[in-house]
Amino acid sequence: MKIPYIEYNQSHRLIEVDSTNNFCKTANVKHGEWVISEKQTNGRGRGDNKWDSLGIGNIFFSSKVLLEIDKIPSLPLVSLFIGSATLRTIRNFSNNPEEFSLKWPNDVYKSQKKIAGILLEANTQSDLVELIIGIGINLYQDQKIEKREYAVLYETEYDFLLKEKILQNLIENLNVSMQKIYLKNLSEELLWIESNSFLKDKLIQTKVNGILHTGRFAGFTIDGFLLLNTESGIVTLMDTGSDFKIK
Ligand code: BTN
Repeated sequence: MKIPYIEYNQSHRLIEVDSTNNFCKTANVKHGEWVISEKQTNGRGRGDNKWDSLGIGNIFFSSKVLLEIDKIPSLPLVSLFIGSATLRTIRNFSNNPEEFSLKWPNDVYKSQKKIAGILLEANTQSDLVELIIGIGINLYQDQKIEKREYAVLYETEYDFLLKEKILQNLIENLNVSMQKIYLKNLSEELLWIESNSFLKDKLIQTKVNGILHTGRFAGFTIDGFLLLNTESGIVTLMDTGSDFKIK
């Protein structure tokens, strides 16, 4: 069994690109390699969302890995574990790690604001899935840029050496997550994610098959789906829709 592995030494370092995920999809990037760009001009988010840049030098990272379908419980579980790798990395570089949480399916929050987003793009071919892992982390905000809806890790200016250490740690944590998935060491990580979840103790309202459900966060399934404890019993959610509300 060959556990997917991202090689720290196999990087494509770009000055500017539309989207590191788009670049990563090209034949220039082999499995296990990764891309970082100083600037991203058309960053993409989940669904039709954009990923705004808060300034040159923030983390615009993508990697390409090849997974064997029968080794992974589901893509939502992979997504959750990539989220936890990102959360662990951000916490490792903060003086106040408790401030950060994982908002299912895979956003990282600093207190009440988003600090990191993840865009996974999968291409399945028979028993293999090629996964593009795109991660944006707001390290700092360039004062010339107006937008303030995101949180940032530092109030200071861009620091190349610090960013390099963060990237190295992110790759290590992503590799540990992929190892846990392949070796089926899932429960401990799922418990860690549950206890560091942004949704913990929150009341959630959403529609499933046209029916409105209101319930409290009750953990995750082994497939990475969200469980809600509602008056009519436990409801399982596969993803957030536009009607997903935290009350
Ligand atoms: C989201 O929160 O909706 C996901 C945001 C993902 C942003 C990252 S930045 C690097 C990579 N390249 C992209 O175009 N998007 C991802």
